[in-house]
Amino acid sequence: MKVKKIAVLTSGGDSPGMNTALRAVVRTCAYKNIDCVGVSRGYQGLINDDIKTLKTRSVRGIINRGGTMLYSARSDEFRTKEGREKAFSNIKKHGIDGLVVIGGDGSFTGGLIFQKEFGIPVIGIPGTIDNDLYGTSHTLGYDTALNTVMDAIDKIRDTAISHDRLFFVEVMGRDAGHIALNSGIAIGAQEILIPEQNMGIEGLISSLKDSKKNGKTSSIVVVAEGDKTGKNVFDLARQVEEEFPKYEIRVSVLGHMQRGGSPTCFDRVLGTKMGVRAVESLIDGVSGKMIGIDNGKIVSTSLKKAIKGETKIDPELIRVSRIMNI
Ligand code: F6P
Repeated sequence: MKVKKIAVLTSGGDSPGMNTALRAVVRTCAYKNIDCVGVSRGYQGLINDDIKTLKTRSVRGIINRGGTMLYSARSDEFRTKEGREKAFSNIKKHGIDGLVVIGGDGSFTGGLIFQKEFGIPVIGIPGTIDNDLYGTSHTLGYDTALNTVMDAIDKIRDTAISHDRLFFVEVMGRDAGHIALNSGIAIGAQEILIPEQNMGIEGLISSLKDSKKNGKTSSIVVVAEGDKTGKNVFDLARQVEEEFPKYEIRVSVLGHMQRGGSPTCFDRVLGTKMGVRAVESLIDGVSGKMIGIDNGKIVSTSLKKAIKGETKIDPELIRVSRIMNI
């Protein structure tokens, strides 16, 4: 079947580079003489028929903008069969014969069910800062988030040094420690706590004792939000404070600033390549795949594998971080 009209949506937590990928999808459609429509607020927009034609000029000036021009949402209604039926009736009404979903694992799970139930071909672009999808070394927005975190912690370090303080900095990543591990190495953290490798409170305390013995007067501990060493980062800081009553401890939760900002060059190029390949895949009759990157090459993986496959922490990163915190 010849693809004549493609719909694109952004769903779940936004990530820098979503706009870049959207622009690439729209312009590739124009290049291939295919109609393109944008769906506002993810799957909820499909249900509410919030669907508009996007032309080449509709996406001007967005390549460098964080967030998503299409808005994003997590739709509870789309989790129900009735919601998906409404969404599909709008797909039919608009004559849409392919869907590009820019989002994370929750968005892909929804897309996969939708494809299975109604036969509409779905292609995923991994837009999330968490880097937690199998089949791509980098998700879109991850590189930007890493640079944002690095800049923020560099600033925290300035004040940590001035006051001889120990800082616990919590970073995002949901259940994955990729942001914590990479940013932690980049800012020279004393310790990096990630869910994939729990060093335990004793391990942390002994590392901090060693660092004191070695003459360190201030330190940064980067904590992934999914780490379970303490109940949360504040509880963790309290436990450490009991052990070091003389150490001035502060906690900083970086929060949603990690999701915003202008995408880095890496994310702009990645989003562009992924957007082009997503449209080309639908034209070629491919469905149920996520576009990824592996050693600089654009690849594709089944959506099922992308969601279910384990994204492993690179043991080399753990090794070098251990050497550095001597
Ligand atoms: O998945 C992206 C992410 O930013 C996670 O790192 C974080 O746990 C979550 O979304 C926060 O979600 P919300 O914006 O709904 O608070």
